[in-house]
Order: sequence, then structure tokens, then C-alpha cells
Amino acid sequence: MISIARNHPLQAHTTFGVPAFAAGFVSVSSLDELQEALKQDQFSEIKILGGGSNMLWTQDYKGLIIHINTKGIALVEENENDVLVEVAAGELWHDFVLWALENNLGGVENLALIPGSVGAAPIQNIGAYGVELESCFERCTALEKSTGKPVTFNQQDCQFGYRQSIFKATAKDRYVITAVYFRLNKPPHQTNIAYGALENALGDKTPTIQNVAQAVMDIRAAKLPDPQHIGNCGSFFKNPVVPVAQFKELQYRYPALPHYTVDSNQVKIPAAWLIDTLGFKGYREGDAGVHQHQPLVLVNHGQASGKDLYALAQKIKKAVWERFEIALMEEVNIF
Ligand code: EPU
Repeated sequence: MISIARNHPLQAHTTFGVPAFAAGFVSVSSLDELQEALKQDQFSEIKILGGGSNMLWTQDYKGLIIHINTKGIALVEENENDVLVEVAAGELWHDFVLWALENNLGGVENLALIPGSVGAAPIQNIGAYGVELESCFERCTALEKSTGKPVTFNQQDCQFGYRQSIFKATAKDRYVITAVYFRLNKPPHQTNIAYGALENALGDKTPTIQNVAQAVMDIRAAKLPDPQHIGNCGSFFKNPVVPVAQFKELQYRYPALPHYTVDSNQVKIPAAWLIDTLGFKGYREGDAGVHQHQPLVLVNHGQASGKDLYALAQKIKKAVWERFEIALMEEVNIF
């Protein structure tokens, strides 16, 4: 039997640490409990919460929050070169990375220290330091929220893109991911160290998966604020992708403009550079601020509300639009 808490504080359940209340809240540790929670019909809507590392509450929530707290990592298949691992949605992403490293399995080492849960990882196809989740994702299982029916999504079904998947598009809010299956590599590992900062941090160390993970953790610790100490949700905005013609025009005005080619028509520009160039690094309005080392990250210095952080984000978007004619898009989900 599940028990639903009423008027429950969400502050400790989101890494931004902003105050908000949910009309109903329940933490589920099994699929049966999840099925039962999905059947609750006294709430107008239901939202699924994982690690709360990608959501900004700007108001109280009138529905039921279901916090996914299922645990378990199991080896389901093994061959000469790789293994298939099933990970429960409620596992913390970084705990899974540590498990892979302990078992000498490669594929997720570049994604060390990303906050959040395993179940949330496919939704935005988490990525860092040259690797995205899709590269080792095999499939995921989910329940349809309205019927409780189990569904499986394979790699193609997920329609992965840059911080994008079907779960943010046509399937938005329709499913609860219950487990994710990853294909991980046995040694000898092929590591991916092409990302400039990663190569530098590794220095002349052998790029074993453990050393790559350590280098990633070192870079993240130096650049990104730890949500345990200062509220944040990682990158607040996505890196914008612009048509080549617009990029060329911008590059003419700003010859130092950093960029990555997406395809022959499009170029990705680091939002951090745009925000930095506008002088927002370390900027703050009350307790809502822009991180001093990575301006893509908005931070809660203590008492900021969701509305304060949202207002700061809008100010940044407006300034970026006025100077560069680029419309920044939030990566964080705003409620
Ligand atoms: N830059 C500046 N000023 C700064 C910081 C960065 O101009 O103060 C410019 C530099 O040109 C730098 C470029 O921005 O080369 C890129 O910076 P960085 O390598 O830190 O990566 P990012 O594009 O800003 C993305 C992800 C991060 C991920 C890193 C590393 C997005 C929205 N963000 O940031 O993901 O950790 O790459 O792979 O794609 C997250 O999603 O929460 C997240 C932290």
C-alpha cells in the first residue's frame, strides 16, 4: 500500500533548492507501487520525479508527484566483447557509472558525475565530453501513464537528438521509464578522449576508463557547481544551432566565435560564450545568479525563488537575442 503525502515540500527534491509544494507526493520503490500510484484519480495530473536535477519550480504543483525510487543493476546478457545491463530507473546516474567502472565495463565513463537518475537520462539523451547516452543505450522499458500498460522503446523508437528524444516530443508526459538497458564494453576498451578539455586533463596518463572518468570528474569539479553546496540544474540552456549563413555573419563580427559543425547547413555555438561575451559571468540579482566559471549554469545562492531564477533566465535570453539574434532555449524543464 502506498501512502500519499499532502502539501509536500519539493525543495529537497530538486537540485535548484527552490521552495514549492506539491498537492500530493509519493515515493515508489517497486513497479507494483508505481502501478498503484498511477491509478490515483483524485489528482488532476501526475508528474514523474527522478533526481530533480533538471526542473525549476516557479509555482506550487496542483497534481501528484511520483518520485521513482526503484533500485537495482543486473547483468542480463554477456558475450565475448560486451554485456547488456538492466538498470532500474530510480538508480542515481553517477552510482551506475561507478558500478560500470568497478566492473571494468566501458561506455559511460565520459558521463561521470552527471546529476540525476537513470530513468531521466534517456529523456534528454544526457551527454558530456564527447559522448551521449544514445551511444550505449539499447532499450528502455516504460509504463504508459494513462493505462499502466508496459511498453518497450528501442534505440530507434527513442528518436535521440542533441538533448532530445521522443520523450520530450510526441511522447511527452505519456510514459514513465521504469528501466534502461545499456550495452557496455569489456576490455580492451576504446575510450573517447577527443573532447579538447578532456585530452588536456588526462595529460600523459593512459586513457583507461577509470582515468577518463577521473579526468571528467576533475573538470566538472573545477567548472561546475556541486548542487550539494549551491543549488543548480547544470546547463540551463541548450547550445543553439544556427544556419551556416547566420554563423558566418556572426563570425565576421566576432572572429573568435567558438563553434562546432553539426552538418553542412548548421553550426552549433556554445551558449556559454554568448552569455560570457555579454558580461553575465558571476552576475547576480539577489540570490539568483550566473555561475562564475560556467555561465551556462544558473545558480541559487541560497534564497532565490523559482520566479527569481526564471526572471534572470528571461533577462539573459533577451540580451542574447538583442545582441546576436539567437533565441536561446531552456534545457531545464520549467513548471
Ligand atoms: N565558454 C566561454 N566562457 C565560459 C565557459 C565556456 O566562452 O566561461 C565557451 C568556450 O568557448 C568553451 C565552450 O563555451 O569552449 C564550451 O564550454 P564547455 O566545454 O564547458 O561546454 P558547454 O558547451 O558549455 C556542454 C554541455 C554540458 C557538458 C559540457 C561538456 C550543453 C547545454 N551543455 O556545455 O552539459 O557537461 O558540454 O561536454 O550541451 C548539462 O547538460 O547540464 C551539462 C553540464
